[in-house]
Amino acid sequence: MAMVVEDIRAREAKHVLQTYRRAPITFVRGSGVRLYDIDGREYLDLLSGIGVNSLGHAHPALVRAIAEQAATLLHTSNLFFHPLQGELAERLARLSGLPRAFFCNSGTEAVEACLKFARRHWTTRGEPRHEVVALEESFHGRTMGALSVTSDEHYRAPFEPLLPGVRFVAANDPAALAAAVSTKTAAIIAEPIQGEGGVRPLTSSFAAAINDACARTGALMIADEVQCGLGRTGRPFHHAAIGLKPDLIAIGKALGAGVPVGAALVSERVADTIAFGDHGSTYGGNLLACRAAICFLDALTDGGVLAHVNRVGAHFEARLRALAARQPIVKEVRGTGLMWGLALAKDASPVVPEAASRGVIVNRTAETVVRLLPPLIITAEEIDQALDRLEQALAAVGAS
Ligand SMILES: Cc1ncc(COP(=O)(O)O)c(C=O)c1O
Repeated sequence: MAMVVEDIRAREAKHVLQTYRRAPITFVRGSGVRLYDIDGREYLDLLSGIGVNSLGHAHPALVRAIAEQAATLLHTSNLFFHPLQGELAERLARLSGLPRAFFCNSGTEAVEACLKFARRHWTTRGEPRHEVVALEESFHGRTMGALSVTSDEHYRAPFEPLLPGVRFVAANDPAALAAAVSTKTAAIIAEPIQGEGGVRPLTSSFAAAINDACARTGALMIADEVQCGLGRTGRPFHHAAIGLKPDLIAIGKALGAGVPVGAALVSERVADTIAFGDHGSTYGGNLLACRAAICFLDALTDGGVLAHVNRVGAHFEARLRALAARQPIVKEVRGTGLMWGLALAKDASPVVPEAASRGVIVNRTAETVVRLLPPLIITAEEIDQALDRLEQALAAVGAS
């Protein structure tokens, strides 16, 4: 088997563009919260492919839905109608309160669509606005528009010049925000909980300042719920928890539960300013993606996943806080529901292999933060087992 692993790596090293520094693990199978590597080792997954595998791995209803759809019709393009896109859009409208959806294939594309729709809104009104106010520590994706509103210099610098007119303000600083937003601002974009930036929740008072700035200047509000939305925090969307009032919402990740799909959800006020041909995607909202997303939404609402996240999320938090009290390397516990960050006193990278060697998959973000985004179906017993293993890894790194 060792030879096979070496073949896999050698082939990648030669032919895959080297943009990812991968961990030395090759997964071949998953079931529920468990992943299995090529040598048959079992891992508890506290990352869900970065917040994607919302129903865990090989969820029976999703497997059935995808297989049935593959055997029926996968894709027709957006030149024709099919029965599932309107159904998914209606379900998302009921959940979000925003009546219209544009479907795409990733979170980045959802953000990109929101930025384009915001600009289009102002040009259609005959009062073009180009400025966007974004937050420090933000992450919205890697295409040129999404990257332009992503704050990290490391991601931005090699690709400059980016979109002009983007101003970054400190998150949770209402005065800085108020000073940056004017009648030239097309939109404010923010993640209700900043994910890549280190699991940093926005406060309700900052959300109120964003709402006030939008009311004062007419600027549109784009909530990027790609990571924190769709049940991750125990609510359909996290912006509602902090009182933020978006005109546009970007979603992705959990929506397809592993099948690539994203969407920009827009208010009627914005939709009224968008015309045929303004945006498009060959794959966006195809039958496979819609079927998977409908299956996920069935599980989320009727299937009780939201209620489950609220129950086990409280248990997760209690366990994390107890762990932090015992492990001095942990300086802060941030998050809610099943979205958590452990801010460490030092670089968190050694925790990842230490945890993997004990059979638990976690991730580091923002240098010092261990990020935890388990499948939304994780049980209290699996949480206990996974956090026991993570605690051993943290203790080992703390002692080193
Ligand atoms: C908040 C947020 N927005 C956008 C994106 C980009 O999504 P994707 O990688 O699916 O394009 C991410 C990815 O991590 C994200 O966390």
